[in-house]
Amino acid sequence: MNNKAKVEAENIAMSYGTNVVLRDINFVIEPGEFFALLGPSGSGKSTLLRLIAGFINADSGRLLINGIDVSAVPPWARNVGMVFQNYALWPHMTVSQNVSFGLEERKLPRPKILEKVRAALALVNLSEYADRRPSQLSGGQQQRVALARTIAIEPQVLLLDEPLSNLDAKLRVQMRNELRSLQRKLGITTIFVTHDQEEAMTTADRIAVMHHGVIQQIGTPVDLFDNPANRFVAEFVGSINLLPGRVERAPGGSLLFECTLGRFDLGDVVHDSGEAIMAIRPHTLSLSKTPGDSARVWVQGTILEREFVGEFVRYTVKVHEQSIIADQAHHVGRAPHESGTVIHVGMDPAQARVLPSSDSEIHQ
Ligand SMILES: Nc1ncnc2c1ncn2[C@@H]1O[C@H](COP(=O)(O)OP(=O)(O)OP(=O)(O)O)[C@@H](O)[C@H]1O
Ligand SMILES: [Mg+2]
Repeated sequence: MNNKAKVEAENIAMSYGTNVVLRDINFVIEPGEFFALLGPSGSGKSTLLRLIAGFINADSGRLLINGIDVSAVPPWARNVGMVFQNYALWPHMTVSQNVSFGLEERKLPRPKILEKVRAALALVNLSEYADRRPSQLSGGQQQRVALARTIAIEPQVLLLDEPLSNLDAKLRVQMRNELRSLQRKLGITTIFVTHDQEEAMTTADRIAVMHHGVIQQIGTPVDLFDNPANRFVAEFVGSINLLPGRVERAPGGSLLFECTLGRFDLGDVVHDSGEAIMAIRPHTLSLSKTPGDSARVWVQGTILEREFVGEFVRYTVKVHEQSIIADQAHHVGRAPHESGTVIHVGMDPAQARVLPSSDSEIHQ
């Protein structure tokens, strides 16, 4: 099974009546890539997946698989396999009958079907469960049957719509790892829909963040985390402090950013003078009783609250009427700071990003 397809969207738009669900969707998914569509409920993820599968059509734009426009190709002729959120297994059929169904529809000879069913069940470690019915399986096992059924038809593109959402927290983590290693083994181009940022970050090669039917940014998990394109992405992927401020041109010509934490040169400030937002991750801030190393900008504040998480302590520090979150790693023998303590917050300007003050890319 070494089918790998390139999937491209060109200016795709789609509406249900007056409700615009997808706007100007563009992406290139490379052969063999594990690509995640990440966004809140209603952002258009499932609609985009259904469109790739061919169950619905775009109003405008093109969808290409291996460079060929498939906009007019029906689902069954696209060689795309989809695993639905609720698995959609047939309850009256055994595991192996569920898996063989799609192969029988394709009119393969019986021995060939048996061989493919055996191989698919072995891949997902369900060989011993071939004769059970779905009701006799756990959620994780049913999920694997749905996956085996789709893999058995050897699709060029695998579409997964929130495949882990019915599982409990522990099984989700286990299954996402299994899914990732299976995808690596098969090398099938995979598009994975989730609203869980951790799931997307830990499994995908690249992620498209969606909001209100618009792709806000496409990038690797590290790109999105370190260089969010706007406020929405910054807040959706991980924890972040967003500090309003102004970009000003210093007499020498360089651009300085001024906010609660002080006035400093952020180097690669992309926005011209005017209102902007500084984004800084809580774990990159330092707290110290006295101002510490000189590479950081230090400002005095007061600890309002602390939350002991275990691996780290999350402090809310009040600095000039602004609340700032600072996460500090916890170690045995190190007592957390008390609420009310006067503390210095140290920021490394290299860790800060300046974002536009409003997300003009987001359509309401
Ligand atoms: N068949 C339909 N008819 C009318 N509107 C629809 C239809 N399907 C989806 N929508 C609307 O399209 C928008 C996007 O829906 P979609 O199911 O793609 O979101 P999603 O990102 O998958 O959300 P979730 O995380 O909740 O599954 C929503 O506003 C939804 O109400
Ligand atoms: Mg959905």
